[in-house]
Amino acid sequence: MTNFTGQVAFISGAGSGIGRGMAEAFAAAGMKLVLGDVDTESVQQVASALSDQGSEAIAVDLDVADRNSWDAAAQRAVSHFGPIDILCNNAGVAGLTRAVEDIPIEEWRWMTDINLYGLVHGLQCVIPKLKAKGSGHIVNTSSIGGLVPLPNFSEYMAAKHAVIGLSGSVRRELEPFGIGVSVLCPGAVRTALGETTVRQRPKRAALAASRSDVVEDLPWRYIEPIDVGRLTLQGIADNQAFIFTHPENRAEVEEEYDAIRAAFDALPN
Ligand SMILES: NC(=O)c1ccc[n+]([C@@H]2O[C@H](COP(=O)([O-])OP(=O)(O)OC[C@H]3O[C@@H](n4cnc5c(N)ncnc54)[C@H](O)[C@@H]3O)[C@@H](O)[C@H]2O)c1
Repeated sequence: MTNFTGQVAFISGAGSGIGRGMAEAFAAAGMKLVLGDVDTESVQQVASALSDQGSEAIAVDLDVADRNSWDAAAQRAVSHFGPIDILCNNAGVAGLTRAVEDIPIEEWRWMTDINLYGLVHGLQCVIPKLKAKGSGHIVNTSSIGGLVPLPNFSEYMAAKHAVIGLSGSVRRELEPFGIGVSVLCPGAVRTALGETTVRQRPKRAALAASRSDVVEDLPWRYIEPIDVGRLTLQGIADNQAFIFTHPENRAEVEEEYDAIRAAFDALPN
């Protein structure tokens, strides 16, 4: 997929951060945009700002954890713009930075409902439409943590790891239908992930040491959401299986694979 002009993209979590960056990059490429978010005010502001700049963008109410909400949002998209060409399953919430045994199981469930099942609902809702059309592309947002897990972040890492497996499986499944699938694995991006998570689930404030609270103290190189949007666009154009954002993450990923290789090397012949 190289000519994006007039293509219809549905982006979840487009009211802020990476989803907003995708919307801005896709609008610059001439796409028509359906922007979904649980924060209806923010997503409406993003859609209005893009419309003011001459792009075709609408905001839709969407709670990704709710299949009925997905069905209604996709229906709205199709009746407004016609068939969807690109789905960006991007909405997500931050994990708690705590020892695995200290994360209450209901918090695991709440986060997994959004960060994993939220994407599954999106796939189940949109894939039949792409199959009927015989073309399209899906981008699932995971994290570099889906490949290189950080300690004390287990609920988030588990969901993001699952998104990598989900994407690899669905990529192979959809190839015969002419539909591409990429998994986006961002490193550190300057967003309000911690704040938006707590706004949605205030009880997490007491439990969380949120990413945004400690953003300046971490030794990571933060990039801007618009840069992730542009890299995503390139990844779709090239039908990349993985879309990375930070070249410096390569060494960590290779270390993970070195451990796997070493385990095979240790097997008796
Ligand atoms: N910021 C980073 O450094 C980073 C790194 C790796 C991966 N990610 C992933 O990128 C994605 C986007 O996060 P971000 O950093 O841009 O954060 P963000 O908080 O700026 O944006 C996330 C958006 O998703 C929306 N959202 C949350 N729950 C939702 C729900 N149930 N239904 C619909 N919308 C919902 C929020 O309202 C928000 O607008 C997430 O999946 C996150 O896990 C972020």
